Amino acid sequence: MKLNDMNSIEALNWRYATKKFDAETLLPESKIDTLKHAFRLTATSYGLQPMKLLVIQDKNAQQKIQTLCMNQQQIGTASHLLILCTVQNINEDFIEKYFTKVKQIRNTPDKIIQPFQDFLTEDFKEKTKQEIETWAVNQVYLAMGNLLTVCAQEKIDACPMEGFQQLEINRFLELEKLGLSAALLLPVGIRAADDIFADFKKVRKPLEEIVIDWKNQ
Ligand SMILES: Cc1cc2nc3c(=O)[nH]c(=O)nc-3n(C[C@H](O)[C@H](O)[C@H](O)COP(=O)(O)O)c2cc1C
Repeated sequence: MKLNDMNSIEALNWRYATKKFDAETLLPESKIDTLKHAFRLTATSYGLQPMKLLVIQDKNAQQKIQTLCMNQQQIGTASHLLILCTVQNINEDFIEKYFTKVKQIRNTPDKIIQPFQDFLTEDFKEKTKQEIETWAVNQVYLAMGNLLTVCAQEKIDACPMEGFQQLEINRFLELEKLGLSAALLLPVGIRAADDIFADFKKVRKPLEEIVIDWKNQ
């Protein structure tokens, strides 16, 4: 079946959490560009985009990072390793920059923007650092979902990962200097011919168990 003939569900059945990539094959830059755009276009709470994407294509760095991920070989064999990060300083200044952008792009008048900006600024002032980080991490999970779906549609193999030593990876990539913290990893590439996981049947609850077509009795 050609990619364009695949419908969404076929694409989602085609994808799986790839455990080993073909280390000799690099994805074309056009595919990586598509993933960058998909990340950018992810819907986020208030539109604040409290996240950044690091794109690594460096087998030495990937090998090092693999050691910080319980040696999971999908990291070292991937064509590219995407690191989905949260932005650390979500403060008044960050929120103001967002609204300045809204004004620039949409020409929205101040009298409409200001009340919303004031509300958000106050709302975030009341949150603890941990609450803001949890909120930001939630947005990163949305981006991950978006990327996984786009990967499936684009026939890019991928493995979503939360099994890694966060502090060690932050240190290795010097993310603190960039005001970032690694939240999720997404190695991408082409599945290895001998990745036995490629042929495993999907394990999912039956539709009737996981979806309720609610009716008012
Ligand atoms: C948020 C998240 C974190 C995950 N972390 C890992 C991981 O660290 N290592 C791994 O091999 N798989 C990881 N997985 C893959 C899941 O185990 C896999 O998606 C699940 O078993 C369903 O299988 P499938 O994706 O192949 O359909 C993760 C998946 C998600 C959504």
